[in-house]
Amino acid sequence: MSTTEQTAPDRRVFTPVTLDLGDILLRPWGRLTELRGGPVAGLLAAAADPAIARWNPVRATDRAGAEAYLDRCDAGWADGTTAAFAVVDAADGTLLGNSSLRWVDRTDGLAMIGYWMLAAARGRGLATRATLAVTGWGIATAGTRRIEIAHAVDNDASCRVAERCGYPAEGTLRASYHYGDGAYHDEHLHARLATDPEPPAR
Ligand SMILES: CC(C)(COP(=O)(O)OP(=O)(O)OC[C@H]1O[C@@H](n2cnc3c(N)ncnc32)[C@H](O)[C@@H]1OP(=O)(O)O)[C@@H](O)C(=O)NCCC(=O)NCCS
Repeated sequence: MSTTEQTAPDRRVFTPVTLDLGDILLRPWGRLTELRGGPVAGLLAAAADPAIARWNPVRATDRAGAEAYLDRCDAGWADGTTAAFAVVDAADGTLLGNSSLRWVDRTDGLAMIGYWMLAAARGRGLATRATLAVTGWGIATAGTRRIEIAHAVDNDASCRVAERCGYPAEGTLRASYHYGDGAYHDEHLHARLATDPEPPAR
């Protein structure tokens, strides 16, 4: 039996922390997240991004919606069920993106991770680095046994991030999720086990 299989369900909680990757910081999302311009403005910018709106809708199109979103993030951290991180430029506090890990079944150690990057931050390997960091943190501190990524089959960028982070594709889910364009899309399911090897560095 592996160490992660022995993790008691009541120890499977996500505890707020800032993950320091040098040039970028992963800060817990919430009402008080330290961001240039503030967390509400950051979320509104993300919600207005066409690719995010299509593939990972933030559903925070006005101040009240953004505040409600941040309240849900604070609640997820408070009860240890969802670890939502803002990816922030360490030099100037600019919001770059998001990486969120949430329990699907805490007893089974099953979690799901999601991510988005603002357009100006894409293509620099940041989603890959953030996903790797949150994956390692979830395994090390909360006993995540299996983490899944699901993305629409047309979302090639997300598929590459998953593969890069050591989440091989396991199959296709039919019409499994209602995306921002209003349609149900087939999705690829990827997953990484705590016992899987670290993927090779870029
Ligand atoms: C998916 C997303 C988070 C990727 O962010 P990113 O920081 O640009 O990704 P990375 O720079 O880490 O790139 C990872 C891999 O994806 C590839 N990639 C990036 N954009 C791509 C694109 N549009 N088409 C195909 N591959 C792409 C990169 O080349 C890289 O692969 P490589 O290492 O083999 O060269 C970003 O495009 C995004 O926010 N999209 C909108 C929201 C979204 O789709 N979220 C995921 C929902 S499941």
